Amino acid sequence: PIRRTTAPQITRRKGGDPIVSLTSYHAHTAAIVDQYADFILVGDSLGMVMHGMESTVGVSLELMIMHGKAVVRGTKKALVVVDMPFGTYEESPSEAFRNAARVMKETQCGAVKLEGGVRMAETVHFLTERGIPVMAHTGLTPQSVNVMGGFRTQGRDEDTWAMHEADARAVSDAGAFGIVLEGMVEPLAARITSQIPIPTIGIGASPQCDGQILVLEDMLGLNPTPPKFVKVYGNLGGQIEAAVKAYAEEVKARSFPGEDQVYR
Ligand code: KIV
Ligand code: NA
Repeated sequence: PIRRTTAPQITRRKGGDPIVSLTSYHAHTAAIVDQYADFILVGDSLGMVMHGMESTVGVSLELMIMHGKAVVRGTKKALVVVDMPFGTYEESPSEAFRNAARVMKETQCGAVKLEGGVRMAETVHFLTERGIPVMAHTGLTPQSVNVMGGFRTQGRDEDTWAMHEADARAVSDAGAFGIVLEGMVEPLAARITSQIPIPTIGIGASPQCDGQILVLEDMLGLNPTPPKFVKVYGNLGGQIEAAVKAYAEEVKARSFPGEDQVYR
């Protein structure tokens, strides 16, 4: 059997061949992504994509575990990273450990991800020391949408760069095996990438990062209003619509089921 990619293997890719990642929430899509991605993120973006929520704030640990299990079962090679949802890790390192250990045990994933820099460094250290690889996530952090008042590209004002650099350095020093940089201007992503020894994984953070991640449904063309940083590689929305429309017409015309679909 092919052994899965590990968190330390991802860390060793710093500065080398770009790291490929996509999100997945679902066994059949994860099996396809598994052929090409170094790691697969079961992102809490599933709250919006799979469950129609307005933000990721409402996502529960149970929901993450349910989708995490599906993705682990559907894959063989890639490291599976599961997002810690809002409200399950911020209060204390021990709360974070208890919930992250549940995610690891119940899903059999290889790592967790959490949002925050300096403020989460102690927790990143606490988890890593106790056997849980942690990917950090800084820059635009969607779980803080209600404090930020919206989703805004970070680092447009150079006065904020030192803060963003300190956030990335803090989680790197604390033992994070990698860091997602979301929604930030290119020169800031370049500075952070050159300053820390762990790989940066960009989403809306320029090609200067050590790897890239996108939400699978966004790049497949299922999101009718994707953000600017998404390149849309597929037309799944259009293909699904055409298929559903053809099916509806054939049912109405009694041409489905046809000869091949009938038990004689
Ligand atoms: O939840 C998610 O999909 C993410 C990625 C966009 C990095 O956190
Ligand atoms: Na997320």
